[in-house]
Amino acid sequence: MRDAPDIKTPLPGPKAAAIIARDRARVSPSYTRDYPFVMARGEGAVVEDVDGNRFIDCAAGIAVTGTGHSHPDVVKAIVEQAQKYLHMSGTDFYYEPQVQLAEEMAAIVPVAKGTGDVRSFFGNSGTEAVEAALKLARYATKRFNVIAFLGSFHGRTLGSLAATSSKVVQRKGFGPMMPGVYHAPYATCYRCPVGLRPETCQAECLGFVEDQLLIHLVSPDEVAAVLVEPIQGEGGYVVPAPQFHQRLRALTEKHGILLIADEVQTGMGRTGRMFAFEHFGIDADIVAVAKGIASGLPLGVTSARSELMTWPPGAHASTFGGNPVSAAAALATIRILKDGIIRNAEVVGEYLMSRLRALMDKHPIVGDVRGKGLMIGVELVRDRTTKERATTERDRVVQGMFKKGVLILGAGRNAIRFAPPMVLTKDQADTVATIVDQVLTEVRTPA
Ligand SMILES: Cc1ncc(COP(=O)(O)O)c(C=O)c1O
Repeated sequence: MRDAPDIKTPLPGPKAAAIIARDRARVSPSYTRDYPFVMARGEGAVVEDVDGNRFIDCAAGIAVTGTGHSHPDVVKAIVEQAQKYLHMSGTDFYYEPQVQLAEEMAAIVPVAKGTGDVRSFFGNSGTEAVEAALKLARYATKRFNVIAFLGSFHGRTLGSLAATSSKVVQRKGFGPMMPGVYHAPYATCYRCPVGLRPETCQAECLGFVEDQLLIHLVSPDEVAAVLVEPIQGEGGYVVPAPQFHQRLRALTEKHGILLIADEVQTGMGRTGRMFAFEHFGIDADIVAVAKGIASGLPLGVTSARSELMTWPPGAHASTFGGNPVSAAAALATIRILKDGIIRNAEVVGEYLMSRLRALMDKHPIVGDVRGKGLMIGVELVRDRTTKERATTERDRVVQGMFKKGVLILGAGRNAIRFAPPMVLTKDQADTVATIVDQVLTEVRTPA
């Protein structure tokens, strides 16, 4: 499966078209499919559709298959575990893979100031990891309010949805939301909410929290947690200036508010560090992880300082959470990540980012290229001065990339994102950048 892209049929091909027609009749229409890719198999950073067309995958099943599609060590761990037992429920019984994974998390999660005194709760998804974090923060502090950020995505179940403020379609029709959630502007430096420049600012955007929210709306001693993505994912791969996270951390410490890092999309090596928070020189109190942790099997983990996770038996649990097969996949994933893949994300990510930045000279539609590791966002604008959002053009770029054999996803209103399996090679990064160049040439902005 090395030679990709390789497009042999019109897209979708006949087999893909037939499956999509069946899907349309019987599958929930709430899913967001941007183009008609129907998976047949995958290996590393290459995927093949049911008609034999091959693509370089820069979406990784929404930033999930970090170790590459069907990494042999992960598959082996899954098969070995599956042959022993598939399920026993860590809620009512014990099994070693869950314990081992909790021990691994204690060693790698940036809470508890490096002491390793960390406990983990296991669910099945990102939203469950966030739900658990919110419930734990409320339980541990005996406070009930939460501060989250505009543009953030934390999941779609009713607790996490109250914090999500990415797109209104995700909230429309589902209200009223869980009370006690307040939203503040995120450090969207390309479009600074207070009109400053990241090189010289002091994270003045947090003034909204300090001088408005905590003065006029909610008393700090009733705020359980601040919930934040270290780098905003669905919101557009937005990387804050480091001072934003540092000032936020100081603020939470001052008021005894817990800091929950939502590392669901940023975590597990994607940014070139195990956790994105590590780039900003701070730690958190609770960390939510999912997506990349088990290379594609469902798993969500909420890790916290042990002294916080003191809820009693029955307070929170999940029948499937921490399933032994997912736990075995996660243990293999962590081994592989440490074994060089995180470093590859850093090196190839830097390379891909430099190739994409170089396109700014040729394509005025590229307003901003940002990211860390293999989490790269490219914001498209109609005019670099006004920063008018190139929304329809963005959608055409996503389609154009697909037609030429590269899977990408949009992020935010007018950005494209690159979140490939972290085994992406430099050659594949070159191919991707060349195709971006071709597609941007086709999608010229109106003068
Ligand atoms: C930062 C973040 N948090 C939470 C979630 C929710 O994860 P899931 O879709 O597994 O529930 C996502 C999903 O995109 C995410 O990006």
